[in-house]
Amino acid sequence: MECDAALFHLIFPVLFVKVPCRTLAIMIIPCKPIHIRGLHIDPPLLLAPMAGLTHSALRQIIAGFGGVGLYSTEMLSAKRLPTENAGRSPYLIRTASDRPLSYQLLTSRPEELAPALEKLHELKADAVDLNMGCPAPVVGRFGAGIRLMEKPENARCLAAEARKRTSLPLTAKIRIGIDLDEGKLQAFCAMLEDEGIDMVSIHARLKHEPFARRPRWERIADVKNRLKIPIVVNGGIFSVQDAEECLRISGADGLMLGRGAVIRPWLFGEIARDLYGCALAKPVLSLPAVYTNLIDLLGALFLPEHRLGRLKQFTRYFSKNYKFGHHLATRVHSSATMEEARERAILFFAQNS
Ligand SMILES: Cc1cc2nc3c(=O)[nH]c(=O)nc-3n(C[C@H](O)[C@H](O)[C@H](O)COP(=O)(O)O)c2cc1C
Repeated sequence: MECDAALFHLIFPVLFVKVPCRTLAIMIIPCKPIHIRGLHIDPPLLLAPMAGLTHSALRQIIAGFGGVGLYSTEMLSAKRLPTENAGRSPYLIRTASDRPLSYQLLTSRPEELAPALEKLHELKADAVDLNMGCPAPVVGRFGAGIRLMEKPENARCLAAEARKRTSLPLTAKIRIGIDLDEGKLQAFCAMLEDEGIDMVSIHARLKHEPFARRPRWERIADVKNRLKIPIVVNGGIFSVQDAEECLRISGADGLMLGRGAVIRPWLFGEIARDLYGCALAKPVLSLPAVYTNLIDLLGALFLPEHRLGRLKQFTRYFSKNYKFGHHLATRVHSSATMEEARERAILFFAQNS
């Protein structure tokens, strides 16, 4: 469902934010938008799909700061998607401001793709992404996520079927692999390209590597050089300096930001302005304003039962902006209602200003 675009402007007042900012000598690099099947990803900065986080409320907060070339939903079960109510489902609600929007599908069964893609056509998706990188055991049991990298023939069938069923930009999100076998990674990406995938996003970690591990951006460079389609690199970008280093090391065509954009929803804008030289004004930031805007958006967009869990998940990351942020996270986490969470957060902000 398209929500009223005006809603965003009504409940997204001017932000007053105090955020410490490191001054760094970053060279502006040329901004080369990515073009795939009529979709212009400009600047080439993408929001990573994140379960429970990349819903419309957070996407709108990020949109308020600018700098995003392509938004993403969280992963969506291809099996359940056709019966989801687009006006009520927290996975599908979107507005005019969080676009262009890519929808990520999770499946291992080619036969689930036709109805799922039909639904995405109805929803006017701007792009479709196939999840081939999720390492969660619950996903792997069904042969989906990174299991598809372990069974490239299944991945090939899925990519081929998806390509047959849609003319939308079709992308895949993968990890660098199960082990450090460069040949396998290259062969997998080449297979995706042969099957008509338009762009690949690579999370620069192996299957079993935790998010705390330094991402292996250097692993992307070789793959990038051997493919014609654009390659986007993901993992461990939390600052403009990380973005610059990641691009330099990987040679990728674009960057995908996950947790960094939840902690600092203005990070896209900073990278677009300070690295790509985009004409974006520096916002005057206020962390409490960002936080209470998210609460308001959750309240305006989602059913009551879908709000608090999402606020708690956001708080887990956003609280990292504060030295004693774990107090904010635990207070919100133990709240029974949105009202209680809001009151506790406002008290925390007053005590930590
Ligand atoms: C809470 C959470 C949920 C995630 N959900 C998804 C998902 O639905 N689909 C997916 O492909 N990756 C998912 N990821 C992985 C991210 O897209 C991304 O690859 C990972 O966080 C590394 O990027 P980052 O270091 O910028 O956060 C998730 C990550 C987190 C932290």
